[in-house]
Amino acid sequence: MKLIFLGPPGAGKGTIAQRVTDDLGVVQISTGDLLRAAVAEGSDLGKEAKGYMDSGELVPDTLVIDLLKARILKDDCANGFILDGFPRTIPQAEALNQAGVPIEKVINFVVADELIIHRLSGRRIHKATGKIYNVNPDGVPQPPADMDPSELLQRDDDQAEAIANRLVVYADQTEPLIGYYKATGLLVDIEASQQIDLIIADVKQAVGA
Ligand code: AP5
Repeated sequence: MKLIFLGPPGAGKGTIAQRVTDDLGVVQISTGDLLRAAVAEGSDLGKEAKGYMDSGELVPDTLVIDLLKARILKDDCANGFILDGFPRTIPQAEALNQAGVPIEKVINFVVADELIIHRLSGRRIHKATGKIYNVNPDGVPQPPADMDPSELLQRDDDQAEAIANRLVVYADQTEPLIGYYKATGLLVDIEASQQIDLIIADVKQAVGA
């Protein structure tokens, strides 16, 4: 099964992907995670990507397309994958087509900007596992009570200015993909303001799992 998770920053794509991969027997491929790993390694790609990412801009298509193409050739992708955060532009979607990657469904996470800003400002990542938490008083999932806060990381692009820019970039460059995939008949809208378990159920129903 090969799926695309489409939607604005903070819609919950990564959270839901982490929760459904085992049941669907697929792996999650987050281009954001791949790029952050390249930044942490200090590779040439990471050095080039960092400035774009910190300000909330997209990394140039050619870099991301090459990264994604190399990732989907790895052995763990044999049973399928969820592309979380790719494609993000029409040229990226066309590159995926040209590579002959057969996508079964495109899950479009629908959520209002106010909720996105609230979620992203409370998001924290567990450094050791990459698991996503939320420290807002109403945040879901909360970090375990015995977890030391120093084990959690706040992303540089989850600062207010970068969040605002990411929403503008999403509207300009990524939202056109909704129409692009609607025209293929692959797009399914999922209401992403719901509780996590309800979203998971909707995703599984959409993909026939
Ligand atoms: P990336 O890491 O992909 O960021 P994003 O798309 O902006 O998505 P996020 O990770 O911010 O949000 P999400 O939808 O996964 O939400 P999450 O599950 O964490 O990309 C980062 C950067 O890398 C980009 O800005 C760009 O520079 C570059 N990049 C990446 N891919 C690229 C590409 N293809 N082309 C070019 N550049 C690229 O949830 C958010 C919070 O909400 C969490 O705290 C979570 O706990 C909480 N939450 C989630 N769901 C719920 C729920 N249902 N109820 C309550 N809380 C919830």
